Amino acid sequence: MEFFSRIIDDRWSFKTANTKEYTHCYHTYPAMMIPQVARTLISEYKPEGQLNLLLDPYMGSGTSLVEASLKGIDSIGTDLNPLARMMGKVKTTHYSDVEIERTFRDIQSELVFYDDSKVSNRNFDRISNYTFWYSEDSLLKLSFLQQLIDTYCTDANKDFFLLALSEVVREVSFTRNGEFKRYRMNAKSLEKFNPDTFKLFETKVLRNINGLISYNKDATNNSVARIFSFNSTLGIPSDILEENAVDMIVTSPPYGDSHTTVAYGQFSRWALEWFGFDNAKDLDRKLMGGDKADNELFKTYSIRKELDYIKDADIKRYKEVIGFLNDYYLSMKNLSPIIRQGGRVCYVVGNRNVKGIQIPLDYFTAETFEKFGFKHDITIVREIPNKRMPGKTSPTNVAGALVPTMSNEYIVILHKE
Ligand SMILES: C[S@@+](CC[C@H](N)C(=O)[O-])C[C@H]1O[C@@H](n2cnc3c(N)ncnc32)[C@H](O)[C@@H]1O
Repeated sequence: MEFFSRIIDDRWSFKTANTKEYTHCYHTYPAMMIPQVARTLISEYKPEGQLNLLLDPYMGSGTSLVEASLKGIDSIGTDLNPLARMMGKVKTTHYSDVEIERTFRDIQSELVFYDDSKVSNRNFDRISNYTFWYSEDSLLKLSFLQQLIDTYCTDANKDFFLLALSEVVREVSFTRNGEFKRYRMNAKSLEKFNPDTFKLFETKVLRNINGLISYNKDATNNSVARIFSFNSTLGIPSDILEENAVDMIVTSPPYGDSHTTVAYGQFSRWALEWFGFDNAKDLDRKLMGGDKADNELFKTYSIRKELDYIKDADIKRYKEVIGFLNDYYLSMKNLSPIIRQGGRVCYVVGNRNVKGIQIPLDYFTAETFEKFGFKHDITIVREIPNKRMPGKTSPTNVAGALVPTMSNEYIVILHKE
């Protein structure tokens, strides 16, 4: 039964689109939104009347914020992951590319004469189990890069270089390539693994400089992106957002808890530890669905059948699922009053499988917002050809028992009545 109408629209797949334009190229992140989705939502589904303020309550790497700034729209983003906030900030900052290039030349000129005796900070205790994850050569070279960034950067442009280094600290570690979770490479891969730390860093900085140049050219400098760390599940700080302040939300929330779906914290842990950010170890538990729950805080008809099925099949999995859904529900409830009348919310969600059954999170999203004064406009179903996500998952956590998941994404669009 279709509770909220869906349309399948091939146009939204953006199969051949360049998803790394502008500052979108800066840093990978799990389950990134395709910039073209945010861009098209802003242009085709902007609310009637003004569009002065866009909010992304799960901003991740800041895709929506970058797209808002390209259109000269002010934005607010929040995320509990400090690395995501750093990405969002760096990606929406108009650094002087001339100054960045000058600083980069200074750093490069030192790299040529690298000698490990020049490395001043050789204490890696902040990085858990560092000898298990890094070679000595990588540790010293990474430390040297951080030293050069400290030496040559101004306070204003330091984060630009640290963000490039952030990708390198992950890529030169012994973690398995192409995975978000922390798995060490096997012995055979380790034998062949000999990353060129400096080359990787230089490649990333050059790529990011190109992104910055095109961003500076095309994004107006007269909009402001503000980044926060509030958790909309717990409430919205009134000093940041008053009732009716927001014209539009464009966001892609997690589609389940980090433990059984996408491990944002594990992915970010390398950089969080290197840079000494808070919550490096326990971030995943702090994100939506971090704790199991015994009772549903919501009433639902649109996913009732699925929840009952999971409850009968596996009570532990059910408690995990509702732990997430409770948080998600509270977040939507708290966000509803800060959207102005006529304002739009656009939620890009995934419908995950649990115990072999798909939970239609798009219905739950539409149902919940309708409860709080919104009217469903449409749900657009799009294929996700180039999103880094597992195409299959183990619904029972039994190795080998795989069912397809997340081949579609659902863009749920509502307006406030
Ligand atoms: C699907 S990702 C967003 C990706 C983003 N659209 C992008 O393009 O990079 C979901 C984000 O929600 C964040 N998150 C999870 N629970 C949160 C919470 N309670 N409050 C704020 N952010 C949260 C995660 O840290 C993650 O960055």
